[in-house]
Amino acid sequence: MKVGVLGSGDVAKVLAGGFVKHGHQVMIGSRTPAKLAEWASSNPKAATGTFAAAAQFGELIVLAVKGTAAREALQLAGERNLAGKAVIDATNPIAEAPPVNGVLRFFTDLDESLMERLQKEFSDAHFVKAFSSVGNACMVNPQFKGGTPTMFICGNDEAAKKTVRGVLDQFGWETADMGKAEAARAIEPLCMLWCIPGFLRNDWVHAFKLLT
Ligand SMILES: NC(=O)c1ccc[n+]([C@@H]2O[C@H](COP(=O)([O-])OP(=O)(O)OC[C@H]3O[C@@H](n4cnc5c(N)ncnc54)[C@H](OP(=O)(O)O)[C@@H]3O)[C@@H](O)[C@H]2O)c1
Repeated sequence: MKVGVLGSGDVAKVLAGGFVKHGHQVMIGSRTPAKLAEWASSNPKAATGTFAAAAQFGELIVLAVKGTAAREALQLAGERNLAGKAVIDATNPIAEAPPVNGVLRFFTDLDESLMERLQKEFSDAHFVKAFSSVGNACMVNPQFKGGTPTMFICGNDEAAKKTVRGVLDQFGWETADMGKAEAARAIEPLCMLWCIPGFLRNDWVHAFKLLT
């Protein structure tokens, strides 16, 4: 697949590297593509560009930007470049405020997630929440003593979710499909839960597993 990754932070770089590792064609995008030069020199198979160039390039899009900037980044990517495409939404609505006793603050509430806001505004794109509830170091083929971890996903478009399930299979995850976009109200706060051991005990290596 051709994958357009929107972002220049750790998540974007790690996921872009994962797609390259699994044989996909990748373009990673930033408002300032030059800041990706060092990453590109150690990942020569991937291309770099603007958000718009990466979105145009990708058949599959990955949104990996700061939550407060997600709307702006998608506007820069261009609505037309996103239309009809699956968009893996790895973002979290983390507010510009410090955590309280290790608990992150969000700028959304439990009646509307960030992904629902984005899905409403960019209605021709097919958002699928994924990779938001684990640290970047554990995103690609993580090894846990407890076995294969579970990625909770959701989104309104079944074909887009099938594509993302295929990616998660390659990246070493089992997928738990939680349904439509509203389920992001429950999935996004998993990021808060995931981060608590990190903030309290500097423990950043873990993932969720759904037992049945
Ligand atoms: N860090 C993790 O391990 C982790 C794990 C799971 C989920 N997440 C979520 O994944 C997302 C990315 O996290 P990150 O830590 O890799 O990076 P980050 O520092 O949260 O975000 C960096 C990205 O945000 C973009 N950005 C910032 N302000 C912008 C603006 N005004 N307009 C457009 N774009 C803007 C930057 O664009 P430029 O390239 O143009 O500067 C850059 O690509 C976040 O939503 C985070 O909550 C993070």
